[in-house]
Amino acid sequence: MSTSTKETVTVTNNSNGKQVEIPLHAGTIGPKVMDIRSLYGQMDLFTYDPGFTSTGSCKSTITYIDGDEGVLLHRGYPIEELAENCNFLEVAYLLLNGELPNLDQKADFEKSITRHSMVHEQINFFYRGFRRDSHPMAVLCAVVGSMAAFYHDSIDINNPRDRMVTQHRLIAKMPTIIAWAYKYSLGQPFMYPKNSLSYAENFLHMMFSIPCEETKVSPVLAKAMDRILILHADHEQNASTSTVRLAGSSGANPFACIAAGIASLWGPAHGGANEAVLNMLHQIGSVDKIGEYIKRAKDKDDNFRLMGFGHRVYKNYDPRAKIMQKTCKEVLDELDMHDEPLLKLAMELERIALSDEYFISKKLYPNVDFYSGIIFRAMGIPTSMFTSLFALARTVGWSAQWSEMIEDPDQKIGRPRQLYVGAPKRQFVPLGQRK
Ligand code: CMC
Repeated sequence: MSTSTKETVTVTNNSNGKQVEIPLHAGTIGPKVMDIRSLYGQMDLFTYDPGFTSTGSCKSTITYIDGDEGVLLHRGYPIEELAENCNFLEVAYLLLNGELPNLDQKADFEKSITRHSMVHEQINFFYRGFRRDSHPMAVLCAVVGSMAAFYHDSIDINNPRDRMVTQHRLIAKMPTIIAWAYKYSLGQPFMYPKNSLSYAENFLHMMFSIPCEETKVSPVLAKAMDRILILHADHEQNASTSTVRLAGSSGANPFACIAAGIASLWGPAHGGANEAVLNMLHQIGSVDKIGEYIKRAKDKDDNFRLMGFGHRVYKNYDPRAKIMQKTCKEVLDELDMHDEPLLKLAMELERIALSDEYFISKKLYPNVDFYSGIIFRAMGIPTSMFTSLFALARTVGWSAQWSEMIEDPDQKIGRPRQLYVGAPKRQFVPLGQRK
């Protein structure tokens, strides 16, 4: 699909009068982009954009975000409609294939995911090398990275069938790998997946059942989990997705690329925020301390931030947070937990922050992670597991974006340039003469 327009932007280098016409591209929606690929060749100039605040790194047909309006579309469909009317695997199919599945396609996809949910039995032994108190994200990173050693029959990245098999394997096995990390931390036996259950039910089953007593998964909690997975499935070129694309741009195998995405997601400014929200609530401790922490969050000399607030792209309510808030209420009703002190504290913190001039003027709204942590806690999922659940859902987006990158004829190995500010060329000093 051609995106070029007849419009250009003229860039003039005022120091030597050199000019270049920069072509503009238009996407389906959203701001136009300047195609600066010829800039260095014609002007001997690079651009400088730490954090990529104004840089588009690729073309994509998967997800669109309008951060000012609080809009999130997957393949053109608003997230609100997908969360209301689809299950997670339907959304996964949409992200991977570009269209919502019909009845037969849905049944075939669900069958394929269900049939791939067991992991190679040898992976079972891998876990025993970890300490029981390992962070689940460390385990996840290692086990997913190791999958290339187990499933090397399908890692020809240029073969569309191999790419599809790998995507299905990753999506299918991730719940098993994550639930096993939890079971290992408890010293409990691993629970094998059960094909009669839905994706979300099966995950909760592997997390909470034990061989001598099966936990009946509440339909309300399974639906809430499924919706949380939908809300985290993709979010265009965020840090972890860009990491997956960058790793994949060298031709690395897909399991290694997804492991790189998991590592990037772990940070508290990204997927680690859901865990950080709960840690922050514990740190605040009680409603009467909220004022003190809001003051700290506003203080430039204090590195404390209100976790679960603010977003690089959304300068309006995160549309996912609105759905998450509703899901949070449903879960708390089901579990009769409205009086839980930490949850009350979270609600009061949100109310105070949303009426504070600092947060209003900087357009800092609660993001998806503010509520997801509260829901996970209410469901009995330990704090250290929260970011792994984000990874579980985002595996779909990473896989779709990785495959789109491989198929894009414009894609090259990712190789940013830099503004070098180190020492200029200088004389080598022999060891004995150094001061
Ligand atoms: N608490 C207090 N002040 C904040 C916060 C916050 N949570 N977030 C941003 N600010 C201030 C920041 O100090 C800055 O002020 P000033 O303009 O006076 O320097 C201004 O708002 C803009 O912030 P920024 O850091 O330049 O914005 P960014 O786009 O680089 O960062 C962010 C976005 C999400 C990293 C940041 O808002 C943040 O650290 N939030 C807390 C962590 C969090 O909840 N992360 C989850 C993001 S959503 C899920 C995901 O994508 O993974």
